Amino acid sequence: MLTMLTTRRQRAVATGCSLFLIFLIWQFVSLNEYPISVASVKLWPSSTKCSATMPLEELEENLIVPQKRYRAAVASSFGFHFDVYLAVVWTLERVMGRSPTGGVVEVYAPAKFGWQFQTIVDTLGLYHGEAKQSKDLVEAINANKGDGGIDLVVLGTCEFDLRKKWSEELLAAWDARDAEHKFKVVCIVHNVRDSTWQQSIPQWSQRNAIRILPIAEHVAAAFKKTFLINADSPNATIRSIGYEDIPVDVHVPVLDVPLAVERSPSRILSNAVIQGSFSTVRRDYLAIFSDLKDSLARDPKVWGYLPLGTEKNASYAVDTTLPDPPFHLHLIGSGSLRIPQELKNVVAVHTKLSYPDFYQLMGSMDICVPGFASGNWYYDAQASSTFAMAVECDVPILVTQRIRNSYTYVDDDKAVVTRPAAMREVEALHALRTRDASDFLDRTGIPWDSYTARAVVDMLRLGWTRDKGEARAVKEKIWRANERVVQRILRDL
Ligand SMILES: *[C@@H]1O[C@H](CO)[C@@H](O)[C@H](O)[C@H]1NC(C)=O
Ligand SMILES: *[C@@H]1O[C@H](CO)[C@@H](O)[C@H](O)[C@H]1NC(C)=O
Repeated sequence: MLTMLTTRRQRAVATGCSLFLIFLIWQFVSLNEYPISVASVKLWPSSTKCSATMPLEELEENLIVPQKRYRAAVASSFGFHFDVYLAVVWTLERVMGRSPTGGVVEVYAPAKFGWQFQTIVDTLGLYHGEAKQSKDLVEAINANKGDGGIDLVVLGTCEFDLRKKWSEELLAAWDARDAEHKFKVVCIVHNVRDSTWQQSIPQWSQRNAIRILPIAEHVAAAFKKTFLINADSPNATIRSIGYEDIPVDVHVPVLDVPLAVERSPSRILSNAVIQGSFSTVRRDYLAIFSDLKDSLARDPKVWGYLPLGTEKNASYAVDTTLPDPPFHLHLIGSGSLRIPQELKNVVAVHTKLSYPDFYQLMGSMDICVPGFASGNWYYDAQASSTFAMAVECDVPILVTQRIRNSYTYVDDDKAVVTRPAAMREVEALHALRTRDASDFLDRTGIPWDSYTARAVVDMLRLGWTRDKGEARAVKEKIWRANERVVQRILRDL
């Protein structure tokens, strides 16, 4: 499957511009969870500044070893994931800014950040230089091969950026430097099973010049496992490549998004969001729609709707006589998806959002539903950005223990609402909206004194609202961890 897709992709590149565009879209769908947009500007709150200030004592551990990297180029020629690699730029700027020995960061990106990401860069102060063009990266590296030259190259999406062309050019630039002035390549990655680019790893590893920087812990674990297997290869050539010692760290792309919304902690749960590309292989939209239809059929009123009309093609309509707002399931992402006619007024689809609009809408949600299909790669090989998106927008996430074990940065009750896996998403939303588990327990016949029932009761006791302080604490923990990682990178640790 992978090799098939790979050759198809390579052919697409060779066939020229129009096909290259299709290739890009394919890449986008395969690597990306982010909203595509050409939409109009909405007002973005302009008052907020980056305010990630950390206690220093926790950062000291790395500081005994002297800093080795002083001039970082963060680069990507991929037209997506700005929020991922600019998050690294932001951390680099903070860490270097505090370091007595300093350092500078330069960004090399496609001509212009898409979807109004520049607004985010400016508002959040992610980067204070001027973005250069990614096509000028190699020239910039070669322009100074000695003191003061670029000594750290962070690639925004290595699945795309460290394929043949850039890898070969960067290797030539590396080989052209003397031993005192070699640079390191840091690979931001998303998916261990996207393996085409990984053919470049041996050449970099033999030079002790690469480190891997996945955006989530379970992807890091998958890379480490793969590297250890390779290191133990029966083939002496592969064994000697140095896989065992390739450093693998995690940098979670959570930004300090300013959130304008003030929400009452006593409100009823009414806006759930599934965020990500509309792929029914990745996410279980169909089962969720079906569960939602069943639950509405049983009791439309608790969801805020009138009973379904008897006409053909009827849709549930909001019951305007009820005091509470109706429930809406928002789908934010890209692609297309057929919404069942009955749910036309329940499910709201949002595509083509700019980053500012995306953050604003996401920030107004009550709860985020990952909705992963059970067998997909999001649990053990690929990182879904939905958790970073929800965390930075202060939206609690409805998870299972399985998700907490994979996405360890949200393995925290301050960030998530944990349902037992036996309770499907819609059943959990129903219980959280009504603050009552009896519908679920009665219908399934799960006894009240079972572990599952106790887990449901715990879920309801903790509730689904999290206050600003809790949300902030989760983010600060992530930022501190990111800073420690960047300190390691600057010290070749
Ligand atoms: C060992 O691995 C190298 C690199 O992948 C390959 O070129 C070579 O053919 C392998 N040798 C054997 C005996 O399989
Ligand atoms: C039902 O709605 C769909 C889509 O809105 C439409 O294509 C179809 O013709 C409708 N069928 C009837 C019987 O109204």
